[in-house]
Amino acid sequence: MLTKIKIRHFRCYEQFEWEFGAGLNFIIGPNARGKTSLLESACILLRLQSPRVASLARIVQHGRRGFVTDGFFARRHLQFYYSPQKKKLALDGVEQTNAKEWLQIGRVVWFGNEDIEMVRGSADKRRKFLDFIAVQRDAGYRTALRAYEHALRSRNHLLKQPSHRWREIAAFDGPLLQHGEYVRTVRHNLLAELQADADAAQFAISGNRESLRLDYAPGDLGNFPAALAAAKTEDARLRQTTTGPHRDDVRFFLNQMPADDASEGQHRTLALALKLGATRLLERHFGEPPLLLLDDIFGELDPGRRNSLLAALPSAAQKIVTTTHLDWMPSAEGANILRLDTAGA
Ligand SMILES: Nc1ncnc2c1ncn2[C@@H]1O[C@H](COP(=O)(O)OP(=O)(O)OP(=O)(O)O)[C@@H](O)[C@H]1O
Ligand SMILES: [Mg+2]
Repeated sequence: MLTKIKIRHFRCYEQFEWEFGAGLNFIIGPNARGKTSLLESACILLRLQSPRVASLARIVQHGRRGFVTDGFFARRHLQFYYSPQKKKLALDGVEQTNAKEWLQIGRVVWFGNEDIEMVRGSADKRRKFLDFIAVQRDAGYRTALRAYEHALRSRNHLLKQPSHRWREIAAFDGPLLQHGEYVRTVRHNLLAELQADADAAQFAISGNRESLRLDYAPGDLGNFPAALAAAKTEDARLRQTTTGPHRDDVRFFLNQMPADDASEGQHRTLALALKLGATRLLERHFGEPPLLLLDDIFGELDPGRRNSLLAALPSAAQKIVTTTHLDWMPSAEGANILRLDTAGA
């Protein structure tokens, strides 16, 4: 579990320190006091990635050069310094040349109101969700995904040039296909593994009314080599790689009907079911539940769904929950509570 965290020049925080307990932890405070930021610092500490923004540069406190997040998880001391120019990782005081060992230490599932975007938003939100879980489960996935993205960027760069040098462009087809097939296989298998747990969660939270099916939907019907070869004219015309895993999607079906026209409550439930499914998947794989970071989601749910969600969270998991007030909780007894009263306290 995460026992202690110390941040510096992190969003609204000049400096802040806090100790977490096992089980349930609450961060309570009015709007804009830094609740989500504190939760985000726990996610970045373990995964070196923010659930809110793609670039960590946005996290650096305005006017500062870089931020620090420093904490203890499973008795390991993690120290991360980030600035746009330089990143530094130290594990138990030993500087790391890469993040390999670091990323094996702890796993995280983030629940936020923006999760509904996984259901209602563009395909990249769904790919990002799968990638965030896949990277945690499978250490090689991060390398493959990065290699794929690198080949894709290089190929697109050449396609943007005024004249197309096809021999140079084709040199990236090999790595694109190789890593692309791997990325696609991992995502496909991950979704299949998520299926039963996400379905069970949807069923429970909807009061035994809804079943959920997840389908991986490759943009090119699954034959990447053929699609890449066939897309040459289109790639030249649009000056970018128009086919591949970076265009894949996931489709959701509630009671065997496409979920696109489902209600907002159903979409929210679906987003929760995906996160709960991911929680179970990681718990099964590693034999212990991930750290659960829940950003202000209970206030949005009706009492029935709220209780179903609380009941569905693994009791053994450490949970950090942000909220503006605790009125909705029947009893917060035994929980560790942090009240934030002044911004960047
Ligand atoms: N890089 C940054 N530098 C300084 N301040 C920042 C930075 N990024 C965000 N902030 C500020 O940090 C404050 C706290 O934001 P945060 O999202 O953590 O609040 P919150 O307590 O979760 O609020 P809410 O209840 O509205 O969700 C905001 O006022 C925001 O403008
Ligand atoms: Mg917030």
